[in-house]
Amino acid sequence: MRQVHTPDDESARIAPGELRSHQWYGTEGLRSFSHRARTRQLGYLPEEHLGKPVIAILNTWSDINPCHVHLRDRAQAVKRGVWQAGGFPLEFPVSTLSETFQKPTPMLYRNMLAMETEELLRSYPVDGAVLLGGCDKTTPALLMGAASVDLPTVFVPAGPMLPGHWRSEVLGSGTDMWKYWDDRRAGLIGDCEMAELENGLARSAGHCMTMGTASTLTAAAEALGVTVAGASSIPAVDSGHERMAARSGLRIVELVRRQMKLSQLLTAEAYEDAVATVLALGGSTNAVIHLIAMAGRSGVKLTLDDFDRIARTVPVLANLRPGGKYLMEDFHFAGGLPAFLARLTDVLHLDRPTVEHDTLRAQLAGAQVHNSDVIRERSHALADEGGVAVLRGNLCPDGAVIKHIAAEPHLLRHTGPAVVFDTYQEMQRTINDPALALTPDHVLVLRNAGPKGGPGMPEYGMLPIPDYLLKQGVRDMVRISDARMSGTSYGACVLHIAPESFVGGPLALVRTGDPVMLDVAARLLHLDVSDEEMERRRAAWTPPPERYGRGYGALYQDQITQADTGCDFAFLARQGEVPEPYVG
Ligand code: FES
Ligand code: MG
Repeated sequence: MRQVHTPDDESARIAPGELRSHQWYGTEGLRSFSHRARTRQLGYLPEEHLGKPVIAILNTWSDINPCHVHLRDRAQAVKRGVWQAGGFPLEFPVSTLSETFQKPTPMLYRNMLAMETEELLRSYPVDGAVLLGGCDKTTPALLMGAASVDLPTVFVPAGPMLPGHWRSEVLGSGTDMWKYWDDRRAGLIGDCEMAELENGLARSAGHCMTMGTASTLTAAAEALGVTVAGASSIPAVDSGHERMAARSGLRIVELVRRQMKLSQLLTAEAYEDAVATVLALGGSTNAVIHLIAMAGRSGVKLTLDDFDRIARTVPVLANLRPGGKYLMEDFHFAGGLPAFLARLTDVLHLDRPTVEHDTLRAQLAGAQVHNSDVIRERSHALADEGGVAVLRGNLCPDGAVIKHIAAEPHLLRHTGPAVVFDTYQEMQRTINDPALALTPDHVLVLRNAGPKGGPGMPEYGMLPIPDYLLKQGVRDMVRISDARMSGTSYGACVLHIAPESFVGGPLALVRTGDPVMLDVAARLLHLDVSDEEMERRRAAWTPPPERYGRGYGALYQDQITQADTGCDFAFLARQGEVPEPYVG
């Protein structure tokens, strides 16, 4: 077990002259003089900052991001905590990645925020960092960047928004939007109802309050030990959220004094526990990509096979939409993540540290479940195995994933003819054309929607059921793609097929009418076409032209890796030294 410094271990405390920021403020010479003069310009007295840990608060607040619109206030609470503990807080605005508004998909920009995070923390006089984020990609982006710098770090999750309401219905973000949109397409509700739904779906600041990608990743962050205990489920607008932010500010100063670096938390054991947590929550498939990328930045090799292996050891215990019934506020009052993890102690590594406790065991001590319908007993698990299965086969030699707990069970073993769409736009144009004569047995195939082909691997994976089948009552079909799927989506959707079609993966060679076989129990996705025929098709295949001629997109297409390895940029994912930027 790793040696962990305890608070009264004075020998472990960093002296002011050893702080990283001392290089900027405390050394002899012109540079330090200039930095002190410029801090006077900011209005601070010497005794307000000299010799104190400088804490960077990286804030993804923006007017356009409804999930983070409260984070400007929360940064103030973090500062309160930092000041109380004797640190010196400085807030840095960083890119916001709004899942709703950013096109073609914020996934295109996850690595950009990771780069920004890393370079800001490295190039400024920072001793420790508090990261404010939560809307889907922001959590992995901030943690990937921070892991590459490896300073003491605390993550402050944005917190879920309040539950949605419409008439007597409780609405979950995303999940109920898709549901009612399908009802409208099926002619079951009209424009009046839709206008009411528009007002009721998202009632407050905060991230999606289902167990979508945001809740999954913030829970993973808490399981990794980088948040204070219980942080991830606190509703964004609850006063407890502000107190959690202040507590995080208090904590980070202590972590700097104890020199507790992020790498001491982000170990192989921590990532295994985060995977177990995500799977037992029935969380988003996006977590597979993000955790693999985050682990890579921590020098930990995490693979698709680790997900499949761990999935077989954990049941799904969280009764949360889209796979279950409740929303994040219910989960919070049922005890939140500490209570949830207390039901998984047999699979967790309890001796590893967190930002708040010397061991995860101590962090979970006393945690209690207050509602066993929300956080189930193992004897009443929602599924016996974790929520994501990893598939292999001739269509996905490097793997694919399916959230089988959110699919209609009869489709989990299914063979049907493929209907291939080369682009999302083509699919949108033609899917409702009765001339396609689709039946519930057809397998909808979308390609060119992967990391390079999308570009950015958009959340197209829940392909729409044709209108005329919806009207017959069909609500699920087998769908396969190299895209991702929103964490709030559901259905028998095979995702993240690797390698993607755009780079010549076998998905590029499928033709309409080919039989496709899905067998989740056997972890198989198979195209029933002979190897010889596949070779003939491969010889005739030509790669599509690159998407970008210049700019960030050109860097992206040059560097992006495939889904099974986390879609990081190759030059960011590789190991290598980066010098400290001290100027003397
Ligand atoms: Fe931000 Fe869903 S849109 S978390
Ligand atoms: Mg989402």
